Amino acid sequence: MSELVVTGLDAGYGGAQVLHDVTFTVGEGEICAILGPNGAGKTTLLRALSGMVKGRGGVRLGGVELLGRPPDALARMGVAHVPEGRGTFMPLTVEENLRLGAYTRRDGLEQDLDRIYTYFPALKPRLKQAAGSLSGGEQQMLALGRALMLRPRLLLLDEPSLGLAPLVTRELFRIVRTINEQERTTVVVVEQNAHLALGVAQRAHVLETGRIVLSGTAAQIRQDEQVAQSYLGYRV
Ligand SMILES: Nc1ncnc2c1ncn2[C@@H]1O[C@H](COP(=O)(O)OP(=O)(O)O)[C@@H](O)[C@H]1O
Ligand SMILES: [Mg+2]
Repeated sequence: MSELVVTGLDAGYGGAQVLHDVTFTVGEGEICAILGPNGAGKTTLLRALSGMVKGRGGVRLGGVELLGRPPDALARMGVAHVPEGRGTFMPLTVEENLRLGAYTRRDGLEQDLDRIYTYFPALKPRLKQAAGSLSGGEQQMLALGRALMLRPRLLLLDEPSLGLAPLVTRELFRIVRTINEQERTTVVVVEQNAHLALGVAQRAHVLETGRIVLSGTAAQIRQDEQVAQSYLGYRV
């Protein structure tokens, strides 16, 4: 059974509709990549899934309708969104940022913090440091760690590779895959770096001007040379 079912989703800002009739499903414990050029509506899609922009249509998680609920209600239902630009609180310490991620609950925090340090050992010696003093890669790891503190059922990642060196980005995607395997967390990852995203995802959808123009397994999308050239901007 599909964990996330998005049906005929329309969304936008005020009068400006950005997403048109977006339909796709993500299986439980799967990683789904959303690809597409700048301005295609990828960020808007994640915002609609986490309740930050209003949508019409259907977005069901584990059979429960998400549309119409505010972001904090969705967080309580296990939707964790790592936004574009990471959304860490720069003046707060690393540890304070991580604890904020668990704002929906009170129990088991220490155990969860330990789990985060296992995934991201680089964060442990920096717990009392301001988040603003971390490198870009460490900040992205902190943002991901903070999202994990929610014990998410659905993890939404918006361009985690943005501004990071290739080596750091590969490490980050390796961790995303480990988290997905160990916790069976369902992941929707938005990426302009199609190569990277297709390396971890089972399925992918290409978004163009707010519409899904192509869907398939990661292998299918990677192998389609014409698709790669016209939508993803690279040759296979
Ligand atoms: N806060 C906003 N208010 C109005 N329009 C927006 C806002 N954010 C994005 N848009 C518009 O929505 C469209 C899709 O943007 P976005 O979802 O950010 O695309 P992507 O993440 O694929 O680059 C663009 O035309 C953009 O200008
Ligand atoms: Mg974006």
